[in-house]
Order: sequence, then structure tokens, then C-alpha cells
Amino acid sequence: MKFLTASLVSTLLASVASAGPISVRRSPSNQTQTQSGSENQGDGKAMSAANGTSVGAAFFISNEPDGNLLIAADIGTDGKLTLRRAVDTGGLGAHGVTDPNGPDPLFSQGAIKASATGNIVATVNAGSNTLSVFKINPTDPTAVSMIGRPVGSGGEFPVSLAINSAGNTVCALNGGSVNGVSCFKVDQQKGLVPIANTVRSLKLNQTTPATGPAGSASHVVFTEDNKQLVASVKGIPPQPGFLAVWDIGNDGSLSTDFQSIAPEKGGLLPFSMTIIPGQNAILATDAGLGFDIFAFANSSKNVNGTDSPKSSAVAIDGQAATCWSSFSPKTKNFYLTDIGTSIITEINISDSLKGTIVKQYQQGHGSGTIDNDIATVDNKDIMYVLSANATAIDVLSLDAPGQARNIQKLDIASPAKAAGVKINANNLQGMTTFIRK
Ligand SMILES: *[C@@H]1O[C@H](CO)[C@@H](O)[C@H](O)[C@H]1NC(C)=O
Ligand SMILES: *[C@@H]1O[C@H](CO)[C@@H](O)[C@H](O)[C@H]1NC(C)=O
Ligand SMILES: *[C@@H]1O[C@H](CO)[C@@H](O)[C@H](O)[C@H]1NC(C)=O
Ligand SMILES: *[C@@H]1O[C@H](CO)[C@@H](O)[C@H](O)[C@H]1NC(C)=O
Ligand SMILES: *[C@@H]1O[C@H](CO)[C@@H](O)[C@H](O)[C@H]1NC(C)=O
Ligand SMILES: *[C@@H]1O[C@H](CO)[C@@H](O)[C@H](O)[C@H]1NC(C)=O
Ligand SMILES: *[C@@H]1O[C@H](CO)[C@@H](O)[C@H](O)[C@H]1NC(C)=O
Repeated sequence: MKFLTASLVSTLLASVASAGPISVRRSPSNQTQTQSGSENQGDGKAMSAANGTSVGAAFFISNEPDGNLLIAADIGTDGKLTLRRAVDTGGLGAHGVTDPNGPDPLFSQGAIKASATGNIVATVNAGSNTLSVFKINPTDPTAVSMIGRPVGSGGEFPVSLAINSAGNTVCALNGGSVNGVSCFKVDQQKGLVPIANTVRSLKLNQTTPATGPAGSASHVVFTEDNKQLVASVKGIPPQPGFLAVWDIGNDGSLSTDFQSIAPEKGGLLPFSMTIIPGQNAILATDAGLGFDIFAFANSSKNVNGTDSPKSSAVAIDGQAATCWSSFSPKTKNFYLTDIGTSIITEINISDSLKGTIVKQYQQGHGSGTIDNDIATVDNKDIMYVLSANATAIDVLSLDAPGQARNIQKLDIASPAKAAGVKINANNLQGMTTFIRK
């Protein structure tokens, strides 16, 4: 009887919440909102009231197969999060084929990506082979409004996005049976407009949805100088994966073929990529080992002008699947998450590109730590980790090298349920932040 009552109440709450039309009208930044989340406002469903202290937003996606939602949380002056809105992306989510089924549905990093210079946030819709781009309201950063309509991703099962430093070009990585990259100009009226000669194949023998994680496409990034586009692909052990590098022409086109760069011996499954600043090099997490350092061509001289930087493959002892990474401009260290151990590993990369483990931080067994991002809030770096299996976000203050400190565990499940926002631990993906200027 108790069970019936509880489930009836939650069903009623959910139906009340979803009964109203999703408004496409922009609402003023300080519009009063109801606490129950039963009122739609802005471009989506309210999950809580604004409290006027937001300095930015953290975004991730529900990636549900029957409708993908962008979920936005306010970042407070203390770096802590408040879930605020869920917004229809106009597309569908998807889950890759994997055994056992679990979190990390797209086998990727970068499923949603924000740009402060462009004032935009873009997401993949893996189940409808589309991409959506939203304008961010800088005075109320969770208030996003779609620009144009979702566009075809240039392939199947889009899993990752990169935005150039000017914030006006978005490139997508498709991981399905039609796989590869494609790039788009951001038009403030039309949305994403395809750039000629940018649909380029990775020539993977894949399925739609993709089969993985082994053998699947992982992440796409621009190099620091924005002159090359790089996609990572996991290997199928014992065959190692690779990075695919395309040159970007002055007209935004991509070279017809890519240069394939293999990891050093021991590297197997390159996953996320994080630029090593000033070194023409990339740290890639490696689900099979720990991490790989890729020193690109012409990076044989380090910042001092002396020879030495070298690619390497570095083991993290006891790791299960190290797949996501971010760089902290304040501590100058890299922070890697492992879905299997739920441990964050802090890494230092020296001027000679030697990677060493600084410290590890357990986030709770079974949390399933996946995508992460780091934002600078009030001159301090704050790390946001999507702990998908716990339907939570772990927030850490990166006080100094080797001194990360958990400051919040934000529950996603209860506020989502109260607001009638459908989420599933196995489908959640992505983490990107926006800090207003
Ligand atoms: C907020 O609302 C108050 C009145 O309710 C109004 O005076 C004020 O201008 C509004 N601020 C913004 C930023 O819209
Ligand atoms: C307001 O929200 C921010 C997060 O956006 C949070 O850090 C802060 O504690 C909240 N303040 C109050 C009074 O609720
Ligand atoms: C592609 O993969 C499928 C499934 O593993 C395999 O049966 C097929 O032979 C592969 N095709 C090529 C061209 O490698
Ligand atoms: C490396 O540098 C040389 C000489 O500066 C240049 O000719 C070559 O194109 C560069 N290679 C790459 C991959 O950038
Ligand atoms: C970490 O790496 C930076 C280079 O980014 C270097 O300057 C610093 O000395 C390193 N710190 C430690 C503790 O190794
Ligand atoms: C680069 O220069 C700094 C400062 O002189 C020095 O500490 C560091 O060891 C140098 N790095 C290499 C790889 O030579
Ligand atoms: C997720 O949670 C379930 C149930 O608590 C557990 O069996 C599973 O191992 C967890 N998965 C991950 C990746 O942590």
C-alpha cells in the first residue's frame, strides 16, 4: 500500500511537470520560479529556483533514446552546483552496444561542449545523428536557447564535439557505421552550417550504434594553434588504437587524408585527449593502461629550446579504465577519471613531457566516474565529475597541486524525478562548463 502511494505520488508529480508545454519564449533572468519544478520556463523545465549567485553553468546530457535533454546546473560563487534546468535538444540519445550494459553510453568525452568566447553550448544527439547548438545567456548561464534547428552530424552515432578557440567553428566525431569527422560554422541565426570539404572518414569497421568500448571512436579536439583537428580511436587488443590528425586549411577545410599516430609501446585504447599547453603535445587517457603522451611532429624541442620531449605510455597501477581528463590552469596538473575504480588520478607533466602521478582521490566505490571538466571560479579551479552510476556530480576544489578537496556531491536523481525529467545512470554523458566574463 505504501509502495502504491509513493509511486502514485511520483507519477502524479511527473505528469504535472510534463503536462505544460515547453515554452520557447526567453524568460528574464530573475523571473520567479516555482520550487516544485512543475512550471516550465525559459527553454525547458525548471529544476529549482534561481538564487541570484550564479557565476556560470555546468552542462551534461540525459542522452535518453526517446528524447535527449541538456541538463544545466548553476555554478555558485563557491563553485558548488544547483541543478536548474532541463532543455529539449530536439534530438534523440543512444547507447552503444556493449557487454555488460552500463554507464558511458557513447564511449566518449566531449558529447556536450561549451565555449565562453562563442557564448554557445553544443551537443550531440547520437540516436538521431544530429547536433544542436544553443546560445548561452551570459547573465543567466543555464538559460540556453537553441539557434536554428538540429543539423545532420555528417555521419552516424555522433559522440564528441570540439569548438575552436574563437568559438565560431564546431567539429563533430561520428562513431557509427558511417564514421569520421565533420565541421560547421556557427551562424547566430541559422545555427550550425556545414563547412565544405570537412566530412572525412576514419574508415573504421563499426556499427550504428557503435560497438565498444574497444575499437570505438573516443574524442575530437583542436590542437592548441587551431591548425589541426585530432580524433582518438581505441584499439582492439592486442591491436593498439591511434590518433587521427587532419590539417585545417585557411578556408576551414580538412586535409583529405589523416595522419595516423600510434601510441608508444604499451598504449592500447586512447580515449580522452587533453592539450598539454605550450608543448605541441597531447595527454590521452588510455583505458587499457593509464595514459599516453603524444608528442607531435616538431615538438622535439621543449619550451626551453632543448631537445627531449618524447611520447610515452604510462601505467596507472590498479587502474580499471582511465578514460576522461581535464587540465587545471591553476595547479598546472591533469585530472583523470576511471569508471571502474571511481578514482581521480592527478598527473604532473614536466617540461620534458615526463608524466608522474601526484595523488589519487577515491570518489566512492561504484560511483562510475566518467566525464569531467575544470572551471576557474573566483580565481580557484573547481573540478566537476559526472559520477554516472551514482547519478551524482562530485565537485572538488583544486586548492593546490596534490590538494584536491571534495566540496559537494550533487544528487541528480531526486531533483530530476521531482521535475519529471527522465534520467538513467546508464545513459547520462558529458560534462562541460561555462563561466561568465
Ligand atoms: C528583476 O526584477 C526586478 C523586479 O521584480 C526588476 O526591478 C529588475 O530590473 C530585474 N532584474 C533583471 C536583471 O531583470
Ligand atoms: C545558490 O546557488 C549556488 C549554486 O548555484 C550555491 O553555491 C549557493 O550555496 C546557493 N545559495 C543559497 C543561499 O541557496
Ligand atoms: C567488420 O566487422 C565484422 C564484425 O566484427 C566482421 O565480421 C567483418 O569481417 C569486418 N569487415 C572487415 C572488412 O574487416
Ligand atoms: C616541421 O617543421 C618543418 C621545418 O620547420 C616543416 O617544414 C614541417 O612542415 C613541419 N612539420 C609539421 C608536421 O608541422
Ligand atoms: C609539474 O609540471 C610543471 C610543468 O607544467 C612543472 O613546472 C612543475 O615543476 C611540475 N611539478 C612537479 C611537482 O613536478
Ligand atoms: C627548463 O628550464 C627550467 C628553468 O631553467 C629548468 O628548471 C628545467 O629543468 C628545464 N627543463 C628542461 C627539460 O631542460
Ligand atoms: C553500478 O552500480 C551497480 C549497482 O550498484 C553495480 O553493480 C555496478 O558494478 C556499478 N557499475 C559501475 C561501473 O560502477
